[in-house]
Amino acid sequence: MHITVEKKNFFQPNKQTLSEGKEIYLQLITAYVSKNWIKEKRRDHYYRKAKEEGYRSRAAYKLIQIHNRFGIFRRGDVVVDLGAAPGGWSQIALRFIGKEGMLVGVDLQRVAPLEGAIFIRGDFTWKETADRIGEILKGREVSVVISDMSPNISGVYSTDHARSVYLAESALRFAVENLKKGGVFVVKIFEGDMTGDYVKEVKKHFGMVKLYSPKASRSSSSEIYLIAKGFRGADESDDLAENQ
Ligand SMILES: C[S@@+](CC[C@H](N)C(=O)[O-])C[C@H]1O[C@@H](n2cnc3c(N)ncnc32)[C@H](O)[C@@H]1O
Repeated sequence: MHITVEKKNFFQPNKQTLSEGKEIYLQLITAYVSKNWIKEKRRDHYYRKAKEEGYRSRAAYKLIQIHNRFGIFRRGDVVVDLGAAPGGWSQIALRFIGKEGMLVGVDLQRVAPLEGAIFIRGDFTWKETADRIGEILKGREVSVVISDMSPNISGVYSTDHARSVYLAESALRFAVENLKKGGVFVVKIFEGDMTGDYVKEVKKHFGMVKLYSPKASRSSSSEIYLIAKGFRGADESDDLAENQ
């Protein structure tokens, strides 16, 4: 008796499957490459634009986009810029507040002088640094607090998120203690599971709170900006916080 054994290699895909798979693979890789290409191009776009227009950072465009959307600054405002180095946000704020305004910036790093701004070097989370800002303000009420502070990136998502929330919390504390009624607060956070609680906390103190991702933010970034307007005033904020 003659038995025919059909030789079949189960690991060998047939030609059609191979070419379909290859096609899908090529489509995916093309989409991935072009998405990254667009991202890079956009990054280069803002980087080049900042160089051409004399801004110290590409981040300057994020603040322009935030201002254009939400109307942050007015002439004559007193602004505190947290995490100011190298100074792109300060340049933009100074442009909007004009000579009548005042800007105090703080950073761990030295910020090169800008006409109309006072910069101090220090860790903002230290009480003595916040106290120094207070001494410079000499009792002037703050109209706008902006914070673009970023922690040192560890690459561990949850750690970076927690560190950024810690910085955002100290910025909020300062804003609540120093803003005038109706004042504005803009703060960056890296998104994560604590974002919701942070937003709730900010809502206790401000009439309007929005999360916004400006076009100039890299699409790969988890950063988001919280814009809070209509500060209720220190007394009303305290009452609300106590009753919740
Ligand atoms: C993204 S950069 C700010 C860029 C700036 N907005 C601009 O347009 O030029 C973040 C800054 O936050 C600062 N920073 C981080 N932690 C800080 C802290 N605890 N106190 C003060 N500055 C801090 C960093 O030194 C860094 O310069």
